[in-house]
Amino acid sequence: MCSNINFNVIAAVSDNRGIGDCGGVPWRINGEVAFFKMTTIQTRDPKKKNAVIIGRVSWECIPPKYRPLERRLNVILTRNVDQFKQSVAGIPDIEVAESFDKALAIIEQHPNIESTWVIGGGEIYKLALEHPNCNQIYITDIKKTFQCDTFFPDIDMSKFKLAVVTTKNEQNSIEFYHNIFKKIPNADDAPEN
Ligand SMILES: NC(=O)c1ccc[n+]([C@@H]2O[C@H](COP(=O)([O-])OP(=O)(O)OC[C@H]3O[C@@H](n4cnc5c(N)ncnc54)[C@H](OP(=O)(O)O)[C@@H]3O)[C@@H](O)[C@H]2O)c1
Repeated sequence: MCSNINFNVIAAVSDNRGIGDCGGVPWRINGEVAFFKMTTIQTRDPKKKNAVIIGRVSWECIPPKYRPLERRLNVILTRNVDQFKQSVAGIPDIEVAESFDKALAIIEQHPNIESTWVIGGGEIYKLALEHPNCNQIYITDIKKTFQCDTFFPDIDMSKFKLAVVTTKNEQNSIEFYHNIFKKIPNADDAPEN
């Protein structure tokens, strides 16, 4: 199955490339949460909304009162689709997919979706970074080392270039930057050695 939908990835990553520990995120930086929310909700066309693709484990990390993530179509990836669908039956703005390409196909069928954001966790970021439709990678670069058990995959710098780095942000004595890596045009056409 081949979708026409391009998508972006968004993650907060520590100095040791960590993204999570014990099923949660090992830091609390309100500015980072606000940036995530604003970036994944905002649309150019006010009549449209965005979609997020999330792994089942990360979904379960979100406190129930904040699920589904508001004002976004939430597409959850799981290999146990039927069981998971039963647990979310009747809740609006939720779709369940058994593969990454199926998630893109579902989003493609939805009217009025402007952008698609892959929001983690580690297993889903890996699928996204290997996918040809990955267009931009937004990394909040957290300038501190944390104990982590889940990590962000390496970005293939033959396919992406660092295009934007914001000025320094700081909260709770933690420095962080919002970096954007953009797909190099025609990078997927390059012959592999
Ligand atoms: N720092 C950040 O920006 C950030 C963002 C998001 C999450 N996180 C953290 O990341 C950690 C969770 O990451 P994780 O890697 O353990 O789990 P995850 O990527 O969130 O979810 C993994 C689950 O996704 C499903 N899945 C994986 N590959 C699939 C495929 N090809 N087709 C269908 N379903 C598939 C499986 O669900 P089933 O087992 O149900 O089949 C699998 O168990 C948590 O600590 C979370 O807090 C951090």
